[in-house]
Order: sequence, then structure tokens, then C-alpha cells
Amino acid sequence: VTPYPHPEETVTVSSPVLFVLHSPTTDHPAADPVRTDALAPILRVDDLGVTRGDGIFETINAVDGHPQALDAHLARFELSASMLELPAPAVETWRRAALAALDAHPHVPELLLKLVMTRGVEGGDRCTGWVVAFPNTDFSRQRTEGIDLVTLDRAYPADVMTAAPWLLQGAKTISYAMNMAALRYARACGADDAIFVSTEGVVLEGPNSTLVAKFGDRLVTPPTDLGILAGTSQARLFRWAQERGLSTSYERFKVDDLDGADTLWVCSSGRLAVPVRTLDGTPRTWDADLHAAALTHLRTARD
Ligand SMILES: Cc1ncc(COP(=O)(O)O)c(C=O)c1O
Repeated sequence: VTPYPHPEETVTVSSPVLFVLHSPTTDHPAADPVRTDALAPILRVDDLGVTRGDGIFETINAVDGHPQALDAHLARFELSASMLELPAPAVETWRRAALAALDAHPHVPELLLKLVMTRGVEGGDRCTGWVVAFPNTDFSRQRTEGIDLVTLDRAYPADVMTAAPWLLQGAKTISYAMNMAALRYARACGADDAIFVSTEGVVLEGPNSTLVAKFGDRLVTPPTDLGILAGTSQARLFRWAQERGLSTSYERFKVDDLDGADTLWVCSSGRLAVPVRTLDGTPRTWDADLHAAALTHLRTARD
């Protein structure tokens, strides 16, 4: 099993920067986020985030000091909160906390800003919220050389959102133990990452990524009504592609349909877009020039 992160992709060691939000939601009077010692204990053992994994998060990549797709991340944070029936996040306080954490951290090429809000202490009257800033893993190797991907069965039907909304598919919850288990399983299979398929074989998303397929001058990704996250990186890639005259669409497709794709990307805020080198062991090609241009855009665009 390949250890993770890969030895050459370990995170730079430095102290994370932490801001705690004492009024993370709109149902309490606003209060400024407070910088707090990141190594000091701030979570109670009876916080429902810890005891039940009951909460939501976002991870934003700040490239060269610019937090990418900040509005889209904050909007998805609000959507996740409503899906979990949590009080509405005080979005402007979260924005301030994220920007303050970015500002307070020493400059690094890529800084991750992680926003977490839990249902709070059991029996308490408010959510727990914090923003932590820490350097991104160096993904340059994956971004240039590509990754090996395996398909894994998510064992949910394509209509999971309406058939079983309590499974919270499509919300970005902090219950990621299953996602991490899927990544370990993929690595035990000798791959770098996984892509889930529904019980019907419909392609969904990765444990922490969105799949985008290119068929000639058309980019396609699965629709969110399959119970998957609306990827902010995929959306940025789509906007860039549209500006270049490529068409984009949200469509249901099966693994076999990917045979006709000339490029497959795995997209996420941390990795931006990485090309797929093999899918279930079968070598894949990718459009190297287009990929390089897309990557440059995803790194440099201030959207
Ligand atoms: C399940 C899942 N799907 C998709 C994504 C990609 O989203 P984004 O590009 O906004 O980071 C993530 C991000 O971590 C994720 O956890």
C-alpha cells in the first residue's frame, strides 16, 4: 500500500493559523472571529462534531494569496448547513475569518483554508465554528504526470437524494470516514484515487473530487441530482472551457461511456485538475496542451 501523502508530497511543516468563531450562525449577535493558539485544545469532548461527525466543512485553496472561488465555497457551506438543518452560517463572519487566517499565515504558494462548523456541544445553544489555515500538499507531480484511478461501488442508487435524503448525499459533511476508507481501498489496489459509481453503474464523484471528461470539444461532468457535490474546481474549469469555445454539460454516463473520452480530469480545490493516467488499469491519454493551459488558468485566475 502506498503511504499517503506520497513521501515526496508531504505537507510543509509549519504552525497552522486558527480563528475561532463565537457566533458562527445568524441566530446569535455577530462577534468577530478570534485568533487562537492552533495547538491549544478548543473542542469539547461532547461536541457533536466529535461524537457524531455532525457538521459541515469547506476547503478553499488560496493560490499566491488569492482564495479561489470563495463565494462558491461559502454558498455551498450554506447549502450544506440547510441540508443538515443547521442554523444558517453567518457568511460574512466566515468570510472575515477566512481572510484573516489567510492574512495571518506566512506566505506559501498554496494555502488551504478549512472552514468547519459543527452542531456544537450536546445540549448547548450554538454551533461550533473555526477556520484553520495550513499549507497545501505539493501536488505538482500528480498535476503533471497524472494519476491512476479505480472505480468503486458507492452502493447507493442514482436517485439516493430523493429516495433517502437522510443519507445527506450532496452535503459536504465532516463524516468523511467512508471517503477516507475508499481512498485507502483504492491505494491498496495500487491506484492513487477512486471514482464512485451508483448501483446502476452511473459515474458519480471521487471521495473528495469531481470527475470531468472531455469528448472532443465537449466537457462533461455528472449532475448534482445524483447526490454529489457541486464542485467549485469543476465549475472553474467549465467557465474557462466556455471562454475557449468548448461546450460544457452535466450528463449521466456509465464507466463504459468514458472509453470515448480523450481526457479525464479529477478536480478538487487542493489538486485543481489532475489528468487520469489509467482507469481501472487501462491506460488513458490526455490532451497535454489543453491540460497545461487549464492548469495555468486554475492556478492564476482570480475567480
Ligand atoms: C465528495 C467531494 N466531491 C467533490 C469535491 C470537489 O469539490 P471542490 O472542487 O469544490 O473542492 C470534493 C472536495 O473536497 C468532495 O469532498
